[in-house]
Amino acid sequence: MEKIKIPSRPFGPFPTVLVGAEVNGRPNYATLGACGVVSLNPVLAISLKSTHYTTRGVKENGYFSVNIPSPDLVRETDYCGITSGKTADKSHVFTPFYDAQGKAPMIRECPMNFLCKVIQNIPVFDFEMFLGEIMAAYLNEQCLTEGKPDPLKINPLIMIGGSYCHLGQVVGTVFKEGTAYNNH
Ligand SMILES: Cc1cc2nc3c(=O)[nH]c(=O)nc-3n(C[C@H](O)[C@H](O)[C@H](O)COP(=O)(O)O)c2cc1C
Repeated sequence: MEKIKIPSRPFGPFPTVLVGAEVNGRPNYATLGACGVVSLNPVLAISLKSTHYTTRGVKENGYFSVNIPSPDLVRETDYCGITSGKTADKSHVFTPFYDAQGKAPMIRECPMNFLCKVIQNIPVFDFEMFLGEIMAAYLNEQCLTEGKPDPLKINPLIMIGGSYCHLGQVVGTVFKEGTAYNNH
């Protein structure tokens, strides 16, 4: 198959997450594509532009939340990604809830939530990458199937290029599909 060269910048796929932080005594949320896992220890990495309102709250409190929206929240999610807490109060967009272990608002409307404690802060150009140890995690009970979190019930929003997508279907099982690979 022929390859064509495309612009050398990130395109995706990325998970679409809502990062929550308390800023000036109110919950604030920013939409992020830059979120991922960094080790087998329970640590998440997020990358926030230094000038974002949310960044202020993460640095002040030392905690942030990572919330996984489903497609029904696409409008609210996009709104939090195009509007800054510097100019609009986003505290009413979602219903916050808290865990005793850290001061960061989690989002009740999102099926999955992580409370993270900042353990490292790495400047990257005009962004700051925060590594956050997961202190608490929550899941909507109806997203369980046979006692396990069900990816299709959580149905996270994925961003790629200029589009938000959803999972669609499961195509394999982790650590199992490769065992059927014939390597010769
Ligand atoms: C789909 C999407 C993904 C985004 N990803 C990031 C990101 O990874 N890092 C970041 O700093 N900003 C990202 N943004 C931009 C912020 O969400 C946006 O600037 C937001 O208004 C910041 O809000 P705040 O100033 O209240 O913190 C993204 C926006 C959208 C719509």
